[in-house]
Amino acid sequence: MATVLGALTSSHVPSIGGAIAKGLQQDAYWKPFFDGFPPVHAWLAKAKPDVAVIFYNDHGLNFFLDNLPTFAVGAASDYRNADEGWGIPTVKPFKGDAALSWHLIESLVADEFDIATCQEMLVDHAATLPMALLWPGGGDWPVRIVPIAMNHVQHPLPTLSRCLKLGQAVGRALDAWNEDARVLVMGTGGLSHQLDGKRAGFINKPFDLMCMEAIVGEPERLARLSVHDLVREAGAQGTELMTWIAARGALTGSVSVVHQNYHIPISNTAGATMLLDNRAASLPQARAA
Ligand code: DHB
Ligand code: FE
Repeated sequence: MATVLGALTSSHVPSIGGAIAKGLQQDAYWKPFFDGFPPVHAWLAKAKPDVAVIFYNDHGLNFFLDNLPTFAVGAASDYRNADEGWGIPTVKPFKGDAALSWHLIESLVADEFDIATCQEMLVDHAATLPMALLWPGGGDWPVRIVPIAMNHVQHPLPTLSRCLKLGQAVGRALDAWNEDARVLVMGTGGLSHQLDGKRAGFINKPFDLMCMEAIVGEPERLARLSVHDLVREAGAQGTELMTWIAARGALTGSVSVVHQNYHIPISNTAGATMLLDNRAASLPQARAA
């Protein structure tokens, strides 16, 4: 049986990639954001995941407005990053886990989620940069990945409630997976931000902090917000909170906060990181190194 170790949620601002490439992690502007990660690294060193299921939103690298699935599950044996025009250095390709992808796809379709399945899929900054924050250094990735892309670009967006149910369905599928795998779930994006229009630069700290509290024990409360509520409170791109809700939904055990960090601004965004531990009834010990 797969073990779902926990969920890591993080902002994915493209300029993080530039900061990493230029070694600016200790720079006054970047330090408060990058300082959110050493406790995550310590947790990862003990938890030793071997696969990461990543809820994220593609921003036009793999899907564009003419062909945009609401939910798309990667089913490739490898995933490449490519130049997406932000000047972010590309990262090394990721190994996929096609067996887990197909297990999730079978289980989601049986659960009446009409997903797209992608046997080829490019992954953008929303998947690559949180991975680079978790495993810095540019070496080979220590985990396989299964990317799950969610539409936060073109309306109509999925409802928050549907995103929570998607995450819960993924969590049930992971719990039922007949493989000895240690799984980290990730949700990337947010928190509040709006990149364009009259409210460009909009950030809502009280709303973000409410979300960071509610997501731990009351994700259903967040799922009751409408998409319009979310855009009003979090900004047009703050809809990326949906990836956090999906990741939280995938935790079926007892959930606690290991670590969290919140800093305004990182680029135009409230930069936030949360690490949630998922204590299943019979959690196996981490594998010996
Ligand atoms: C920014 C934030 C995002 O989530 C994104 O996808 C692109 C840019 C930003 O704040 O710069
Ligand atoms: Fe984004």
